[in-house]
Amino acid sequence: MKTSSFHSSHARVDQAPKDGRPEFAFIGRSNVGKSSLINMLAQRKELAHTSGKPGKTQLLNYYLINDSWFLTDLPGYGYAKQSKKTRSKWEKRMENYFLKRQTLVSAFVLIDSNVPPQEIDLEFVNWLGEHGIPFVLAFTKTDRRKAKDGAHVAAFQERLKEYWEELPPAFLTSAVKEIGRDEVLTYVESALNT
Ligand code: GTP
Ligand code: MG
Repeated sequence: MKTSSFHSSHARVDQAPKDGRPEFAFIGRSNVGKSSLINMLAQRKELAHTSGKPGKTQLLNYYLINDSWFLTDLPGYGYAKQSKKTRSKWEKRMENYFLKRQTLVSAFVLIDSNVPPQEIDLEFVNWLGEHGIPFVLAFTKTDRRKAKDGAHVAAFQERLKEYWEELPPAFLTSAVKEIGRDEVLTYVESALNT
């Protein structure tokens, strides 16, 4: 990744850039580490805003990378204080985004490697799969003690096997220890060239 800059924020997908640049979207549960991973990939401390408080990212945030592709930070799902109304609003917006965004090359679904498989993550991943939306998994915060033995990652993959014959590509990442950067960027480059 040579250059990165904030491009624009949008409440709705029909307001998103229309220049046709290919796009990779980052999504996952609130607080899973989306913004931190984006900053790690870009090697910038504050490209995307991070916070200890869940629900910080509410817009579709576009970052322009190498003047050639967009990295999009999407609002997170499933934090405890979220009301039913907020949740269904989020679902509508994300459905809209994923079903309408034709320049989307692939989504990165971030999964916390410190917790057992979460139903909300499985539901979301299955929804993408059912709608034929290309995605990969990025397990986050692998530097943490509870992630060390890889049991939660393995359990998540096992759960996916209940639904899918073929598992999506998966990356192990840590924003803190800068793990997985080369793997993720190599994948992006190869996806851009096919
Ligand atoms: P929302 O935008 O609110 O949905 O959150 P987010 O998914 O963008 O998460 P964010 O990057 O803001 O990080 C949430 C918290 O997790 C922060 O306190 C980070 O410091 C912490 N965190 C993120 N990545 C890592 C990591 O790789 N390792 C560790 N140990 N902590 C991390
Ligand atoms: Mg964020």
